[in-house]
Amino acid sequence: MQSVVIEQPGRLVIQQRPLPQPAAGEVRVKVKFAGICGSDVHIYHGHNPFARYPRVIGHEFFGVIDQVGSDVDPQRIGERVSVDPVVSCGHCYPCSIGRPNVCTELQVIGVHRDGGFSDYACAPARNAYRIPESISDRHAAMVEPFTIAANITAHLQPGADDIALIYGAGPMGLTVIQTLKGVYGVKQVIVTDRIAERLVMAQENGADWTFNNAEASLPAELEQRGIRPTLIVDAACHPAILQEAIHLASPAARIGIMGFSGDACTVTQQSITSKELSIFSSRLNSARFPQVIDWMADGKIDPQRLITHCVAAGEVEQAMLMFEKDQRTCCKVLLQFS
Ligand code: NAI
Ligand code: MN
Ligand code: ZN
Repeated sequence: MQSVVIEQPGRLVIQQRPLPQPAAGEVRVKVKFAGICGSDVHIYHGHNPFARYPRVIGHEFFGVIDQVGSDVDPQRIGERVSVDPVVSCGHCYPCSIGRPNVCTELQVIGVHRDGGFSDYACAPARNAYRIPESISDRHAAMVEPFTIAANITAHLQPGADDIALIYGAGPMGLTVIQTLKGVYGVKQVIVTDRIAERLVMAQENGADWTFNNAEASLPAELEQRGIRPTLIVDAACHPAILQEAIHLASPAARIGIMGFSGDACTVTQQSITSKELSIFSSRLNSARFPQVIDWMADGKIDPQRLITHCVAAGEVEQAMLMFEKDQRTCCKVLLQFS
C-alpha cells in the first residue's frame, strides 16, 4: 500500500509500505477520503510538539473496514466508518469522567501514531463509527472537524438568545457557526476575520453578520452598535484575542478558546472576575462522533459548505502547500484514495 509519510520535518514522501495487520481489538480501514487539517501542515513543518517522526499523518478520515483483529466481530468487515483519532486508556482520571480527549496517555491517530493518509489504516474498533447510508463518503470524512465544534459548544451551552461572536472563519470557525445555527438555533452569530473571502464563506455557513477586523476596529464597531456578545469563540487563536474577547464580553458571558500557542497573553483577574466570565478551553473531542453523525444525518449541519477541493492522494504535497498558502480560495481540502 502507499502511505503519506513525513519522514522528518520538511520531508514528505509517498512510501510503499506493507499492509498493516490489525492487532487485537483493532480494525483495518481501507481509506476512501481524508481531510487536510492545519495540524497536518504543522507536523510537516516540524511545528507540532507532540509529533514523532517518521509519521503517517491524517486524522480526519473515512473508509471501509476490510479486516478485523481478534476480539472484533468479523461482521464489521464491509462497514463504512469514520475514525475518531482520540485513543485513550479508559482508566485515568479524565477518562473516568468522560473526557478521554485529555487522557493522561492520549494518543492521537495521525500525530502520536500512524494516521489516515494511507491506503489502509488500523485503529481501535471502538474508534471506528458506523456511517449511515444517507451520508456520502466525502461528507463522512468531515465528521472529525465538526466534533471539534461539538466539543467546544458542549462546554459553552449556547442558547437561542445568545449573541455569539466568533473569531476566525477558517474550517474551525465555520464548523462552529454551523453548529451554533443548525444545532443550537442561535439567532445572532457575528463572525470576524481578516480575509474578505473567508467572511463570504462565513456567510455561506450561516453567519448573520460579518466584520473584517483588518480594515476597522471591531471593539469600536460593537460599542457603536451597543452589542455585547454573551458567547465568544476564539477559532483564530492568536494569543492577543483572549484579552479583546474579555473586554468585549457581556457580564456573565462564556468564552471558548482552542489555541495551542506557547506565547503569553495578558489578561487581568479584574477583567474576568468583575464580569464573572466563564472561560472554557476545548481540545479535540470527547466521544462526540455519534452526536455529529446524527447531526449530519438529520441535515442540521452541511459539510459540503466547507469543502472547496478534492484531489487525488498522490497530489498531497501540492494540496498541502495550496491549503497553507491560499486561504482565500481554500477551506477544506479532501484527499481521495483509490
Ligand atoms: P485557519 O488558519 O484556517 O483559520 C484561522 C482564521 O483566523 C483565518 O481565516 C485567519 O484569517 C483568521 N484570523 C487570524 N487572526 C485573526 C484575528 N486576530 N482576528 C480575526 N480573525 C483572525 O485555521 P483553522 O483550521 O480554522 O483552525 C483555527 C485554530 O484552531 C488553529 O489555531 C488551530 O490550531 C486550532 N485548532 C484547535 C483544535 C482544538 O481541538 N483545540 C482543533 C483544531 C484546530
Ligand atoms: Mn483536524
Ligand atoms: Zn485515560
